[in-house]
Amino acid sequence: MVKSDTLEMLRKEPGAEDMDFSWLDDPAAERGMRVVPSKRGLTLEDISVGTYGDPPEETRNQSGRMRGSAPRPDAQNIGAHWIIKSESWSESAMMLYEEALQRQWSSATDIPWEEMPELDEDLELAMSQLCTFLTQVEFIAGDLPAKFAPNISAEHFETGLFLATQIMDEARHLDVFRKRALANGIGLLQAGPGAVGLLAAQSFLDMTASLHLVGEGFVQSMFRMGELIAHSEVDKKIFRLAAQDESRHVAFGIMHMKHLLKNEPERREEIHTYLDRMEGQVGSTPNQSGLTGGGDTTEALAILLGGGKSEKQLDEGYTKLMAVRKRQFNEYVHRLDVVGLSDRRERMHPRIRAFLEPKKN
Ligand SMILES: [Fe+2]
Ligand SMILES: [Fe+2]
Repeated sequence: MVKSDTLEMLRKEPGAEDMDFSWLDDPAAERGMRVVPSKRGLTLEDISVGTYGDPPEETRNQSGRMRGSAPRPDAQNIGAHWIIKSESWSESAMMLYEEALQRQWSSATDIPWEEMPELDEDLELAMSQLCTFLTQVEFIAGDLPAKFAPNISAEHFETGLFLATQIMDEARHLDVFRKRALANGIGLLQAGPGAVGLLAAQSFLDMTASLHLVGEGFVQSMFRMGELIAHSEVDKKIFRLAAQDESRHVAFGIMHMKHLLKNEPERREEIHTYLDRMEGQVGSTPNQSGLTGGGDTTEALAILLGGGKSEKQLDEGYTKLMAVRKRQFNEYVHRLDVVGLSDRRERMHPRIRAFLEPKKN
């Protein structure tokens, strides 16, 4: 603490006429907090103490003033931030942000590229087709959160920090699948039809419903079945590491929707509208689904799952593909249960409903 006589002395220094130091007289709202690192180091949750850990439900702060700092009357208003906490808040954002930082990996050095075997040409082509589709998916999965990041209030900044990690994760996914497509000399093949439904998202809730809950959930389920799709340890590792990242993205979306439904239950039907749209796309003809890839990607997956494109292998491939779809759809319903949208089961698109296991009590 600077004593007031010291301040007086400083103010009398030559050239100090304009010095003020009033910020020293006006300490921040709270002091003496006890901040203790936890098992994982000093995390955002550890410093969420007292008023610093109390994001306002509603704010008029449009100046970018960070939560906890003292306001200044001459600050400019940048007026683009969401003022209601539930618009963007996710209880898991802090934890997932820290986890993302601690579990970053490098597509350049953490994938044992030098151990990459050459696969049969059909498998190699199929893998390149799948990777082509995935690079496009990952590109959009980074674009969408980036679109909303500038709307996050400085009072609710943890959400913005998490989104930054997601954008980085998706960048890495894009690049790892691009590298994989080129690694054995095939390169990129047929582009996907484009995820029009995702890019239509105009609100944060639309994004978390369409991208996090549906889109990334399906991708996560697919990556988790990477053991069946991959034909080398290298490919298995790519799917494993990407699945780990996707779990965070999905968890963020689930917790956001849960928080929103608790605070704004009247928006329940709005969520159903977004899900209707997304399920409609998934439930369109199996070969034209914007979320599961076009027909080319579906065929590529069948070749990879069956181990080739003989009749017998394709038979097996399509059987396993149905198992992948079944897992995607059942895990989707489980996520809905966690969010508190179990009623969705009754109004689900029939093509998806046909895959569902009976609800466990
Ligand atoms: Fe991703
Ligand atoms: Fe993701």
